[in-house]
Amino acid sequence: MAEKLRTLITAHRIQRRVRALGAEIARDYRGQELVLVGILKGSFIFMADLARAIHLPMTCEFLRVSSYGDGTTSSGSVRLDFDLTNSIRGRHVLIVEDIVDTGMTLRFLLRHLKLSRPASLRICTLLHKEERTKVKMSLDYVGFRIPDKFVIGYGLDYAGRYRNLPNVGFIEKT
Ligand code: IMP
Ligand code: MG
Repeated sequence: MAEKLRTLITAHRIQRRVRALGAEIARDYRGQELVLVGILKGSFIFMADLARAIHLPMTCEFLRVSSYGDGTTSSGSVRLDFDLTNSIRGRHVLIVEDIVDTGMTLRFLLRHLKLSRPASLRICTLLHKEERTKVKMSLDYVGFRIPDKFVIGYGLDYAGRYRNLPNVGFIEKT
């Protein structure tokens, strides 16, 4: 079987949307200092662009979780691989995620980060597969709502690959 990469969201559209999200976030947090918490590895490219689109004083932190057993199906359980290294107590925290699928990862992260008592805790995700989300929660900033398709690129991987693609796309088997 041959594999073809198809584009779902072009790099140009992503860049435009990220700039708009950055402006919206900067307005909402005006006069405050932010902590962006990027969820590795998937968010690293989105985080880099988003951080530069938010014109506010901020610090950037990262943590790593893993949830997917094989390539494309959720194992249901989320594991913390490494945690934040600086305190977020009393800080305004914005979680930066690549994609919300079932919502299990975010539910875990919200519970985990709340234990550190931030002043506020919000979520910014580039993509949301709305139809698949089982966990009820409010997503404060969403880049794009997408159909139930396994996507790659702009940080998102399939078995570790394709993170470096500038577009968000999917693999078509022909
Ligand atoms: P959730 O816990 O089911 O919401 O899954 C969230 C995590 O699974 C994301 O942070 C991604 O790392 C990964 N994931 C979910 N859907 C996709 C996809 O379509 N492509 C690549 N990774 C995905
Ligand atoms: Mg992820």
